[in-house]
Amino acid sequence: MAEIRSIGVLTSGGDAPGMNAAVRAVTRSAIYAGWKVFGIYRGYDGLISGDIKEFTTESVSGIIFEGGTVLRTARSKEFMTPEGRRKAYDNCVRYGIDALIVIGGNGSLAGAQELAREYGIPVIGLPGTIDNDLYGTDNTIGYDTALNTIVECVDKIHDTANSHNRIFFVEVMGRDAGFLAQNSAIAAGAEAAIIPESSTDIDQLAAYIERGIRKSKRSSIVIVSEKDGGAMHYAERMRKEYPEFDVRVSILGYLQRGGRPSALDRILASRMGVAAIEALKEGQTNVMIGIDDNRMVYIPFARAIKKDKPIDEELINVLSILSI
Ligand code: F6P
Repeated sequence: MAEIRSIGVLTSGGDAPGMNAAVRAVTRSAIYAGWKVFGIYRGYDGLISGDIKEFTTESVSGIIFEGGTVLRTARSKEFMTPEGRRKAYDNCVRYGIDALIVIGGNGSLAGAQELAREYGIPVIGLPGTIDNDLYGTDNTIGYDTALNTIVECVDKIHDTANSHNRIFFVEVMGRDAGFLAQNSAIAAGAEAAIIPESSTDIDQLAAYIERGIRKSKRSSIVIVSEKDGGAMHYAERMRKEYPEFDVRVSILGYLQRGGRPSALDRILASRMGVAAIEALKEGQTNVMIGIDDNRMVYIPFARAIKKDKPIDEELINVLSILSI
């Protein structure tokens, strides 16, 4: 592999709190290694159009605590085409970018894998998504902050649910994965979580809620993952089949992606950013940085993006024991 003297960094896909901390860590550790750094704006779209600027250590000052991404982001349609990737690679050559660091989720890392395969440019990925759905890493950057945001919201919903003796279906993000739903349900003391990884029987759920009411529970909260119709779907079924329940829906939506990153996300992003530069120095490519048992690890892109990260059965068990 040719010697690396210059790297490009971009954020892609849905923004996630902690992406800025990751950009800062990548930039500063690359400069520390004696390399040049180019910030690429608007994800792969900016790589294609040449929306690229050289970064100094000052370029990333005062951003570790900011939500969103200062590099901005996009879900690039053009990069999904061979012509788009050709233009992206041409700009790498034009700017003298020897390697790329891509911070994003599943689709972004799949794109990174394609570019590395077609043009042989070294690419390292950092898992940046609130969904926590990348295999091989215990946590993704942004997941902890989003989880805390959800829990804060559900605590508030509890107040109104208790006051009115209502049943709330609260919809959370996560795309195809139930990590946000399952863990926010545990942390917020919800009655149940409906997640794509396990099936939910509406009659069993109703019986469970009824039992809670008989035992003097004043309200019930069910956290619903956004997949398969989300909260509306389950609430409508519940209303139709159990009209005696006073059912409400709350869809948390995009507020889950915003806000200042938690300390855990800032630390994770900082460690992963430094690890990405170490990985390049070691001659790694086509790998995502992960955290496993509190150690930084390398996961081949092909493995990380397979969409088969399992939810621990123990978490499902904990919720069902504690919500009786
Ligand atoms: O991947 C992050 C995420 O927020 C998912 O949880 C959600 O399904 C999706 O992005 C929403 O995407 P968009 O920003 O394109 O509406």
